[in-house]
Amino acid sequence: MVENRFLEGKVALITGAGGGFGREMAKLFAEKGADLVINDINMDGLEETREIILKDHKVDILLAKADISNSDEVNGMAKQVSEKFDNIFLLVNNAGIDGGLYPSLKAKEQMYNKVMDINVKGSWNVTKAFFKQMKRQKQFEPIRGKIINIASCAGTDSGINPFVGVYSASKAALIAFTKLWALELGASNITVNAISPGVFLTPIYNNDPKLIRSFLDTRGVKLPIDRIGESKEVANIALFFASHAADYITGTNLVIDGGMTISVNKL
Ligand SMILES: NC(=O)c1ccc[n+]([C@@H]2O[C@H](COP(=O)([O-])OP(=O)(O)OC[C@H]3O[C@@H](n4cnc5c(N)ncnc54)[C@H](O)[C@@H]3O)[C@@H](O)[C@H]2O)c1
Repeated sequence: MVENRFLEGKVALITGAGGGFGREMAKLFAEKGADLVINDINMDGLEETREIILKDHKVDILLAKADISNSDEVNGMAKQVSEKFDNIFLLVNNAGIDGGLYPSLKAKEQMYNKVMDINVKGSWNVTKAFFKQMKRQKQFEPIRGKIINIASCAGTDSGINPFVGVYSASKAALIAFTKLWALELGASNITVNAISPGVFLTPIYNNDPKLIRSFLDTRGVKLPIDRIGESKEVANIALFFASHAADYITGTNLVIDGGMTISVNKL
């Protein structure tokens, strides 16, 4: 069990927090006392996230509208953050898009660039903009900061859905970066881990269970735990990585998919 309000005095930056997993993580971190920087390109979504959180929690929230694929905008966000807060303990690289359903070799260049720019370069941009701040945070020793990358089962097992080929490759790249950053930042007592969700009801699936079911049926996937995941369950894993219980874990990728991956791969 994660102790109560253990994130008090710590700031969590979550990209793509205008809805979906990002909003759930923001809510849960706030419940544990964290102040928040919530980023998105969707300002309405960010305002809604803030409103929901402030109903129940007294925390400081900075809304940071920025396109993470644009390094100038990300650096602008870093400046905005440094004017308001003195730390970033948690960085969750969550913002991502699927780019539509195409086998990788049928994808258009423009779509390829957009998916890679947001899912890979975007997370790299944000990490580059904040890791130096994390390194300075000796007050939080033994761990000065934690980075959590939201990858996907499509990144670990690209055969799960060959119709999101470029997306799968982008998430595989994010898992590779997770390991690289864990190596590069370990000596500074910063942990870096990834979470790879299976299928969850969020705006990325138009909040439509039928869409998810039809994808699973087309692929002949029978989930061992036969239900679609809830965003809160991904947020709970992020909270675990944020807690002291996970201080000795770095460079891992935790799959949360109700058993989808083993079902597809068979034993
Ligand atoms: N929902 C699932 O089943 C599932 C499964 C595996 C992985 N994921 C991953 O989880 C993450 C969150 O997805 P979600 O399901 O909550 O979907 P979502 O669409 O609700 O969340 C993504 C958020 O990112 C924002 N965003 C998009 N481009 C951006 C940019 N350039 N800069 C800043 N923000 C941007 C969107 O506006 C949106 O609010 C994504 O990386 C997604 O690939 C989702």
